[in-house]
Amino acid sequence: MKKFIINIILTILFFSYVHAAEEMNEPLHPDWSFEGPLGKFERASLQRGYQVYTEVCAGCHSMDLLSYRNLVEEGGPEFSKDQAKAMAAMFETKGSPNEEGEITMRPAILSDHFVSPWENEQQARAANGGAYPPDLSVIVKAREGGADYIYSLLIGYEDAPSEMSLDDGVYYNIYAKGNKIAMPQPLYEDGVEYTDGTVATPEQMAHDVTMFLTWAAEPKLEARKRIGFKVISYLIILSFLLYFTNRRIWKDTH
Ligand code: HEC
Repeated sequence: MKKFIINIILTILFFSYVHAAEEMNEPLHPDWSFEGPLGKFERASLQRGYQVYTEVCAGCHSMDLLSYRNLVEEGGPEFSKDQAKAMAAMFETKGSPNEEGEITMRPAILSDHFVSPWENEQQARAANGGAYPPDLSVIVKAREGGADYIYSLLIGYEDAPSEMSLDDGVYYNIYAKGNKIAMPQPLYEDGVEYTDGTVATPEQMAHDVTMFLTWAAEPKLEARKRIGFKVISYLIILSFLLYFTNRRIWKDTH
């Protein structure tokens, strides 16, 4: 028994050591409008975030779980149907076979999933020096630190310290695990030209695209918070009513 306990303690010590060795910088924590019990996405930011995703990230990252029609739905970027149709039509996807049995390309429509930049994982790896740019549909939920981590990572590129040698295709990023990542810095000053006139600093673009990715990972966030708030308010009112009813019922029994 004694041996067993000592073993467990040693195992725990070992794992905390391994964990500490991989320690990463604490991510930044910008003010997110979607936090808190009444949190909501900023509509304009979601729309800009979609622009950053399509113009910058979509060259390497797919978002397979999203369809163009999601861009119209309540609680999301809420583009108009015509806007979303035009956005879909900017991409080409495989159509049905023609009379010779050949697949032809056609512009995407609202019911299509976001068009992937790659045919398959092998092609994605081949184009990225062996690294795989993960699908971004639920990346905010899939990474510890969520939105804070993604935001920080996008603006965390710095010159590597002189004593550190980086392989080809590996970049120095103070928020990446081991400070190394196989993604080149994606955001530069004025990397996109925002249609609403917002100045496109790397921080602004990182903020907007992270908000967009957070919505993609949890499209029902606003509805969930709204219902939660109603339920809590209802319970508070009900407790008051029960409290006074109770007092009234027992009023004469003292
Ligand atoms: C030139 C191609 C390229 C572009 C453009 C690009 N990425 Fe990446 N991205 C990659 C690759 C490759 C990886 C895998 C990195 C690795 O495994 O080290 C990656 C990884 C990631 C990760 C996962 C990091 C992790 O912790 O595993 C996130 C999140 C990400 N990219 C977001 C973005 C966003 C948001 C944009 C647009 C602003 C973007 N990327 C633009 C190639 C790209």
